[in-house]
Amino acid sequence: MNSRELHDTRRHIALGVNVDHVGTVRQARRGRHPDPVHAALVAEQAGADSITMHLREDRRHILDSDLFALQGLMQTHINFEMAVTAEMTAIALRLLPADCCLVPEKRQEITTEGGLDVVSQLSQVRAVTGELSAAGIRVSLFIDPEDAQVEAAVAAGAAAIELHTGAYAHAQGTAREVQLRRLMRASKHASEMGLRVNAGHGLDYHNVQPVAAIAEVEELNIGHAIIARALFCGLAQAVRDMKALMLAAR
Ligand code: PXP
Repeated sequence: MNSRELHDTRRHIALGVNVDHVGTVRQARRGRHPDPVHAALVAEQAGADSITMHLREDRRHILDSDLFALQGLMQTHINFEMAVTAEMTAIALRLLPADCCLVPEKRQEITTEGGLDVVSQLSQVRAVTGELSAAGIRVSLFIDPEDAQVEAAVAAGAAAIELHTGAYAHAQGTAREVQLRRLMRASKHASEMGLRVNAGHGLDYHNVQPVAAIAEVEELNIGHAIIARALFCGLAQAVRDMKALMLAAR
C-alpha cells in the first residue's frame, strides 16, 4: 500500500482476530497453554486491528481472567462478544471494552449458529444496548442479512451490526452468489440507516475477498481459519496473509 492509499479511509478495512480457538485448545487440558492473551498480542503485532473474545456461559474457551488480563496489555481494543444476559452485561460494565457484539447463545451449539433475532427480542436487546452504550461501549448486533433485523438494530439503538456471513461461507456456486447479494443489500441498507457495518463467521482465505470488497463493510471478524492456518505457518504469518487479502479486495 502506498501512503495515499493508507490514508484513504474508503479503502481501509479492519481485521478483528477472534482468539477463542486458542482458548479451546488450552481448555482441552485445563492448563495454561496455549494462552489466548499471548495469541492476541502476537495477532496485534502482525496487523490485527482488534481482538474478539467470546465469553460463553459455560466458559468453554475464553475465561473471565483472559479478558481482564488482555485489556491491560493491548495496543488496540477488545471486541467483547456476549450473550444478552444479566451476567454478561455486568462483566461488560466492569471490563468496559471499546466494542461489544451481542450474539445468540445456546449451550449445545458448536459455534454461534444463527444471527441474533432482534425483531423478536427487541425490548431485551434495547435495554442491554442502552446500558452498554451509556457506559461508552460501541454496541454491535450480530444479525442475519435481513432488512427487518437491520431495522430492528436501529430501533434497539445499536451503533453497529455484524452481518452473519455463515450462509454465504457454506454455500457453493450460484447459491453463494445469492448469499453475497443478500450481504451487499443488507450492508447498503444498514449504512444508509447510519449503522457501522461489520461482518464475520466462516470467512477463510478462499472466500473472504468478495465480502471484503463490499464498500460499506468496515471490519471483518475472523477466527477459525486464521487459527487453523497458524498451525502450519505461525499466527503472525496467518494474520498478515488474511489482512493482505482483505486490503487487496478494496
Ligand atoms: N463473529 C461472530 C459474532 C462469531 O460468533 C464468530 C464465531 O465465534 C466469528 C465472527 C468468527 O467466526 P469464525 O471462527 O468462523 O471465523
